[in-house]
Amino acid sequence: MQIARTIAEYRAHRAALLAARAVEGRPGLVGVVPTMGYLHEGHRSLMRCARADCAIVATTIFVNPTQFGPNEDFTRYPRDEARDFAICEAEGVDIVFAPRVEEMYPAGAETTVSVGRLSTVLEGAARPGHFDGVATVVTKLFSIAQADRGYFGQKDAQQLMVIRRLAEDLRIPTEVVGCPIIREPDGLALSSRNVYLSPEEREQALSLSRGLRAAEAAWQDGVRDADSLRRRVLDEIEAQPLANVDYVSLANQGTLDELRGAVGAPALLSLAVRFGATRLIDNILLTP
Ligand code: PAF
Repeated sequence: MQIARTIAEYRAHRAALLAARAVEGRPGLVGVVPTMGYLHEGHRSLMRCARADCAIVATTIFVNPTQFGPNEDFTRYPRDEARDFAICEAEGVDIVFAPRVEEMYPAGAETTVSVGRLSTVLEGAARPGHFDGVATVVTKLFSIAQADRGYFGQKDAQQLMVIRRLAEDLRIPTEVVGCPIIREPDGLALSSRNVYLSPEEREQALSLSRGLRAAEAAWQDGVRDADSLRRRVLDEIEAQPLANVDYVSLANQGTLDELRGAVGAPALLSLAVRFGATRLIDNILLTP
């Protein structure tokens, strides 16, 4: 496995690997898995998807400062580069691109990418500027990686939509692939931020997936009223004394417009809940 700190190093490794491995009959030659490190099973599943599809797999590890708000956890965001490199190696990653901030944001950089309305609702409303930071860094990573496919988790459902939109709008020739949410056996969606949870908070955080499952069960039983479905989720979470709900949303899966009255599928049921200083998100897609 090659580790690149600069764009030039990454490009050299990519070119050398492409020349060495002329693999035919695979849909994507180069796959990229963008991450902010502190890798867990969710990231590993993305690497495995990329490995199954692509001749060359690159992972990027970069804690992107511009997607954190002034009062968010950028400085204390968990980091463990040695462990991350070992995980990448074990997953058969070919190149890890782990740049310094100056490589991604050179002195004098002024250009940002903003994806419009999709970036302003839900997570965008709760975290102003967050998706501009994500869109800007992902555009740079796509441009640097020159990958045929980019792999992202469905856990960040809105992020996935924003990235699909920017790739389409900017005519970026990297296919955006969404991969399923990976959960702990007890239902908690994997996140690098789970390490912040106290044992009590973690126990109560199980209400998120329980609530989503309760709504899904109601949906399968034929409940279509948007408020009733949101209420199923809220009932589980609001019973937890340590939980502070940011939002529970049932929205059109294509536009993220909040749904009222009778719901036609598919709809995205998503939520953000705080436990102390830790903010967790989760979601489920309601399909017929
Ligand atoms: O999902 C993440 O880890 C980040 O938002 C991403 C896509 C790597 C951009 O920094």
